[in-house]
Amino acid sequence: MIQNITCIGAGFVGGPLGAVIAYRCPNISVTVVDKNASRIDSWNSDALPMYEPGLSDIIAEIRQRKNMCNLVFSCEIEKAIHEADIIMLCIDTPTKKFGIGSGMALDLGHIQAAVRTIADVATTDKIVVEKSTVPCGTASRIQDLLVSGSKGNCKFEVLSNPEFLSEGTTVTDLLHPSRVLIGCQRTETGRQAAEKLAEIYKRWTSPELIITMDQWSAELSKLASNALLAQRISSINSLSAICEAVDANIDSVVEGCGSDPRIGNKMLHSGIGWGGSCFPKDVAALVYLARSLGLNTVANYWNAVLEMNEDQQTRFVKRILGCMQRCINGKNIAVLGFSFKKDTSDTKHSPSIKLVRGLLVEGATICVYDPMVSESQIRTDVSPSKDDSTRLRVFSTADEACANADAVVVATEWDEFKTPEALLASHQVNLINGVNGSETNDVGMNGAHEISARKKVDWHSIVDNMKQPAFIFDGRNMLSSQYFENLSCRYVGIGYSSRW
Ligand code: UGA
Repeated sequence: MIQNITCIGAGFVGGPLGAVIAYRCPNISVTVVDKNASRIDSWNSDALPMYEPGLSDIIAEIRQRKNMCNLVFSCEIEKAIHEADIIMLCIDTPTKKFGIGSGMALDLGHIQAAVRTIADVATTDKIVVEKSTVPCGTASRIQDLLVSGSKGNCKFEVLSNPEFLSEGTTVTDLLHPSRVLIGCQRTETGRQAAEKLAEIYKRWTSPELIITMDQWSAELSKLASNALLAQRISSINSLSAICEAVDANIDSVVEGCGSDPRIGNKMLHSGIGWGGSCFPKDVAALVYLARSLGLNTVANYWNAVLEMNEDQQTRFVKRILGCMQRCINGKNIAVLGFSFKKDTSDTKHSPSIKLVRGLLVEGATICVYDPMVSESQIRTDVSPSKDDSTRLRVFSTADEACANADAVVVATEWDEFKTPEALLASHQVNLINGVNGSETNDVGMNGAHEISARKKVDWHSIVDNMKQPAFIFDGRNMLSSQYFENLSCRYVGIGYSSRW
């Protein structure tokens, strides 16, 4: 009987995962540990260290439980390992920055350190679960480290149980997973461990969504899922370049292709390229895996997905320049949105970084506004040269960022940036898809309320305060071109030719 679960790593995966297990399994004690004391302090305060719609609500609900709060955030890593029946490794695996595989392979340093601590501290049998994205074959390496490092007689079973949550919809994804993959050793004890983990998920997930397989397949499925999704977006972005060159419309092409149910229209939204903590590093890791297996054609195939993404970002900056008479030196350009997508404060590999750098280098003054990203984060990410630094300005409202601008670039699809028609259309889609319906109401959507409570951008007044001719560059194809043409603006989106 599983009584104690420890999540090592209180980041984007460990924090929400621990909270959802505690929320759904009141009789299991969940401890989320991290060596970063200030991060743990934030989890223990009302200001959580990350923004995720619905998360603060479920944590508040767990804390208000009359009998006992079963969710603890702590720095006492060894104690939590000692007490745990199941240990979830929710540790970051950044791209390696040195040595062999630099820039491509995943760095397992943090995971290895945690596994050594487990081997050192454990005095009872443990099930160790890989939640982090890891290179294929890591489960058996972890098993080896645990067995060779263990001082006692305890037995370890390592499971691969990759996480498929997306930032911004983490809580909903955890509560309503599309599938749960559990990779185990092909042994009786391996299968028993997988069954114990499956029992936890079955408290809120239908059994047919739980798929058991070998560890290698589970690890590869995680890399492959992200690579396939990134490949779809790169594919549609490659077609957007053709559309711009020939006067076709990418949204029509998406409709034309996506109406085939074998293709579908999800993850086919063309934009300024994909970012985030996962796609860039997982596609790179797949390229590295293929190269290290001597499969060069396979590696080149996936590398093209990365190259296409770089090209999409560069092409957008060139397009802005091209539309503005090839010179933005001395001009004011507002950039609305800095996170890599809406509803998250995460800026990892955000296309906005390359965008802002590209515009600064051309001599423009860049005025950034993002509802969730701090000025210090933006400055750290852009890391402008001394010369460029004074021309990078960060504002706390869209109105201020856009005042006196020659151009406004929408770089993240935050709802508050939508034009009234686009907002209405997305509400209708949400109603059809049941978003904010009964499925998500069970967690409360505090974050969603925060967003809707924020002031919607008043495009009329923004355009009134811009210099003429006023350019709107829509890097997310989320605004209505007609709306801006009615305001006498020069509207430029992605994936269709522009008159300017
Ligand atoms: C991604 C996957 O979608 C999750 O299934 C996976 O669990 C997660 O990585 C992970 O490995 O942890 P995430 O990076 O949070 O999730 O974000 P996505 O919603 O997939 O978006 C990734 C990037 O693609 C963003 O920059 C987004 O703006 C862009 N995107 C997405 C598009 O340009 N077009 C689309 O149609 C969809």
